[in-house]
Amino acid sequence: MMALRTRLTERLGIRVPILSAPMGVTAGGRMASAVTEAGGLGLIAGLGPAGIANSAPWIEAQYAAAGNSRVGGGFITWMLASQPDLLDRMLDHAPVAVMLSFGDAAPFAPAVKRAGALLICQVQSMRYARQALDCGADIIVAQGGEAGGHGTTERATFTLVPEVADLLAKTSPDTLLIAAGGIGDGRGLAAALMLGADGVLIGSRFWTSAESLAATDVKRHALAADGDATIRTNVGDIANNSPWPTEFTGRILRNDLTDRWHGKEDALRAEGEAGRDRYRAALKLRDFRQLAVHVGEVAGLMTDELPVSRIVETIIGDAEKLLLRGAWQRA
Ligand SMILES: Cc1cc2nc3c(=O)[nH]c(=O)nc-3n(C[C@H](O)[C@H](O)[C@H](O)COP(=O)(O)O)c2cc1C
Repeated sequence: MMALRTRLTERLGIRVPILSAPMGVTAGGRMASAVTEAGGLGLIAGLGPAGIANSAPWIEAQYAAAGNSRVGGGFITWMLASQPDLLDRMLDHAPVAVMLSFGDAAPFAPAVKRAGALLICQVQSMRYARQALDCGADIIVAQGGEAGGHGTTERATFTLVPEVADLLAKTSPDTLLIAAGGIGDGRGLAAALMLGADGVLIGSRFWTSAESLAATDVKRHALAADGDATIRTNVGDIANNSPWPTEFTGRILRNDLTDRWHGKEDALRAEGEAGRDRYRAALKLRDFRQLAVHVGEVAGLMTDELPVSRIVETIIGDAEKLLLRGAWQRA
């Protein structure tokens, strides 16, 4: 049985320092339990396909799908603020940890802690890292702009992780650090540990896994892309009528939609219902030239839809080899 021990594995009682991201509508109980069974910790997304207002049945169904696996969960914080009782629905399932991303975690931190779950805050900058410490985060996820899904263009993983590691060493040595953004293979995990992280949070690579609830055609589309093919933009959210704060852009595949509207966001907003109708029509036709497909730069490092267990085994096996022989020695 594979194991790679760090402070994170000790604290969470897991075998390998890998968490799966609580990705809205695709990271359900099946993916989360598969990550846990492979030795890491799976996080169930608090957001279901019918939107945050209707996520309670989704949370119930996904915890049921996870069975007896020890899993955690996660919310998009600014969305949770509009439906705060969802946090209690999740806490009823005794998650190992709750991850809060994108917005002020302070109003929710006490309930997470009272329930005995670890509080994980995902941050994109030093400013947000300090805020996370102020609200008592047990674990900080430092997310670089390479990441798939929402994030910011402010910082890259390679400098954000060691800078947050230095901050924690000086001011809060018991707070653990996880790197996110661009990690999809053993090189990424080994590099993250070298940069001072205690583990990694992986989104895109698991989003393409066999256990992901993403449809096969969209996974294939992303798997065929290289790392140049993504862009961080608000265009997808505007077209899809999703009220994300503009600070948080989505990393999506470049296509006709982004070619036409990136840089012309006000004009897309001005289209109003006509633009949204076009988006809904593209969704029906599964016209990926016109749809926002969220995936990170790591798209260029993956080619196959694989079961979670294979993904985790390969990442751990390769990272161990690199860490043992020294990543700098060429084979
Ligand atoms: C398809 C997709 C959906 C995502 N949805 C969420 C989400 O709902 N909540 C969240 O906190 N993070 C979400 N993320 C971001 C992840 O938490 C994480 O930061 C990111 O996936 C890490 O970078 P990577 O994709 O290169 O592994 C999403 C990422 C992807 C690829």
